[in-house]
Amino acid sequence: MCGIIGITQKNPDNLMEKLYQSLKRLEYRGYDSVGFAVLSQGNSIRISKNKGKVDEVARQTDFSLMKGTTGIGHSRWATHGAPTKENAHPHTDCQGNIAVIHNGIISNFLQLRKELSQKGHIFTSETDTEVVPHLLEDLLKQGKTMKEALFELATILGGAYALVVIYTNEQDTIYCMKKENPLILGITKDESYAASDIPAFLPYTREAVTLRDDELAILQPGKYVIFNVKTKEVVNRKPHRITWTPDAAQKGGFPHFMLKEIHESGQVLRTQLASEIPNIEHIVQAILEADNIITMAAGTAFYASLTTQYLFQQTFGKIVIPTIASEYETVLPIINDNSVVIAVSQSGETIDTIKAVKEAKQKGAKVIAIVNVVGSTITRIADHVVYIQAGPEIGVAATKTYLAQVFAIWRIYHQALIKTNKQTLAQQLQEAIQNVPDEIERIVRNDEAKARDIAKKIQHAQSAFYLGRGINLTTALEGALKLKEISYIHAEAYPAGESKHGPIALIHQNYPIVFIAPNDNTREKIIGNIMEMKARGAYTIGIIEENDQELKQILHQYFEINPKYSKQLQNIPYQIPLHLIAYYTATSKGHDPDYPRNLAKSVTVE
Ligand code: G6P
Repeated sequence: MCGIIGITQKNPDNLMEKLYQSLKRLEYRGYDSVGFAVLSQGNSIRISKNKGKVDEVARQTDFSLMKGTTGIGHSRWATHGAPTKENAHPHTDCQGNIAVIHNGIISNFLQLRKELSQKGHIFTSETDTEVVPHLLEDLLKQGKTMKEALFELATILGGAYALVVIYTNEQDTIYCMKKENPLILGITKDESYAASDIPAFLPYTREAVTLRDDELAILQPGKYVIFNVKTKEVVNRKPHRITWTPDAAQKGGFPHFMLKEIHESGQVLRTQLASEIPNIEHIVQAILEADNIITMAAGTAFYASLTTQYLFQQTFGKIVIPTIASEYETVLPIINDNSVVIAVSQSGETIDTIKAVKEAKQKGAKVIAIVNVVGSTITRIADHVVYIQAGPEIGVAATKTYLAQVFAIWRIYHQALIKTNKQTLAQQLQEAIQNVPDEIERIVRNDEAKARDIAKKIQHAQSAFYLGRGINLTTALEGALKLKEISYIHAEAYPAGESKHGPIALIHQNYPIVFIAPNDNTREKIIGNIMEMKARGAYTIGIIEENDQELKQILHQYFEINPKYSKQLQNIPYQIPLHLIAYYTATSKGHDPDYPRNLAKSVTVE
C-alpha cells in the first residue's frame, strides 16, 4: 500500500535524489501513482506528481527546480479515486502552503469535504486525503500553531492514517501523525526521516524509532520529538538499532528480489535457528493448556498458519481453528480468556490481522504473534512475539518469509513434543530441523533449471491445479497462490481427494496439475488422483520423495526431495520447487514478479 517518505536534513544538494531513491525502495509495497513535494527557498512548496512508476514520474520532474532541505515523497495505491495526476499525493490546501501525504483511509471524509466545501474550500481531487490540508488550513486560520492544529485534527479524523505534513512557514520541519497505519522514523546526526517502512531509509541510517498510534512526531534535521495526541504530553522514546543491513534490501546480482529471496530461504532458516525462541516455555504452556487455538492471518501468512492445525490438532488433540483475519467475527463467540490466538503476519501491519487480534484480545485471549518486522503494530498487541528473522522481503509475493513462518510453527511444535515427553518424535524432528536449511539450498541449486523448463511448458495455460493431502495441502495452497499472483494464470489448490468432486470437469489435454506426493500415508491415494487426472489428458508435475521409482514412471515431470522430509517438516522443502515454478512462469511470460499488478505487500486498508 501507499509508500511514504519524508526527509529533513542540513544538506541542500541531494534531497530530491534521496526522496526518489527512497520511493524506489518502497516500490514493493504496490502503487499506481507517485508524487514529490519540496519546501523551496522563497517560502513555497514545489510539487511534481503523476500516475505511473517512480522512474516515470522522476523523469518528468526537474530535480534542479526542486532544491531544498525538507521534502516528502509518496507512492499511491488507489482507494478513493482512480490513479490520476489529480488524485496522486501530495495534496495541498487552497493557498498551497501545506502539503500532505497519507496512507490509510479517512472514513468520515465525505462529511468533512461537504463542510469544507460549504466554507469555500476548493477540492481538486476525489481523494479522502485532501480534506486534511484544508482542515489544517482552517485550524491555522484560527490562530493555532501546526502542532495544535494536528492535535485538533486527531479529534476530527475518523479511520486510519499515517500522515506526513510540510508547511511553508516552517522550512526545516516535518510533522507526522499516525493511527493504525505504520510510520517509522530514522535519525542521524544531521538528518531525520519518516517512512512507511524501514527499507526507505536503510542506506542512510539504522537508528529507528517506531511511532505508535495516536502519536505526533515533529522532525527537524537530526532531531525528533514525539507527543501523545490525547494527553498532548511528550513521549520519550530512544531509537533502536535495526539489524538488517542495507545490502539485504538490494538485489545482490539477482535479476529480481523474488529470486534472491528464494535463494535466501535456507540461510533465513539457519539464522532463525541460531537463536532460541524467547519465552518458548510460556508459549508452549499456553498452547497446551488452551481451550482452543485460533489462528489469524491473511494471504500467504494464512496458508502458513494452517500448519498449526495439522501439528497441534493431530498430535495433541487441541482444537485449532485457522481463521482468515478479515472473517474474525465468525470465531469471536468461541474466544474466551482460555483461548490462544496465533497471529501470523510478515509485516505485522496488515489491518485485517490487527483488527482481528485486537478484538480477540478484548475477549481475553492470549496472543502469540509470529512476525518478521520488529516493533510492528501486531508485536505491540501480542503477549508473546516469535520473530521469524527473515530480513527485509522486498518481492511482493512472499517466499522466504512464508518458509520462515512455517518453520517457526514447527519449532514451537518441537518444543511442545519435548514438553510432553514425546521423545522419539522430538528427536526425529530435531534432526530434520537442523538439516533443512542445507536441503533447501540443495533443492534451489538442483531444481532451478527444471523449474525454468516446466515454466516454459505451462506459461500458455489458462489455468492450473495444485493438489495435496494432509499438511501438504498448505504447500498446494501456497503454490497456487504464488502462481496466480505473479504469472496471472488462474490457479487453484484443492485437497487432492476433493478434486473428483468438481475440479476434474475442467481437465483437458495438457492441463497442468502439480501434485505434492511425499512417501507418507497420503501417497497411495495421491497416486490414484494422478492416474485419474492423467487419464483425462492432464500434464502432471509431482514433488516426490527421492528415488520414488513408481511416481517417476507415472509423472510427466517431478522434483525429488530427501526422504528425511517425507514425515518431518514436509511443507517446508516441498514448497521450494513451487516458488521456483511461479517465479519462472512469471518471467517467461515477461511479467515482473517483484511488482505484480494490483497487489500490495502490506495491505493497510480493510
Ligand atoms: C498482502 C500481500 C501478501 C501477504 C498478505 C499478508 O496481501 O500481497 O503477500 O501474504 O498481505 O501480509 P502479512 O504482512 O500480514 O503477512
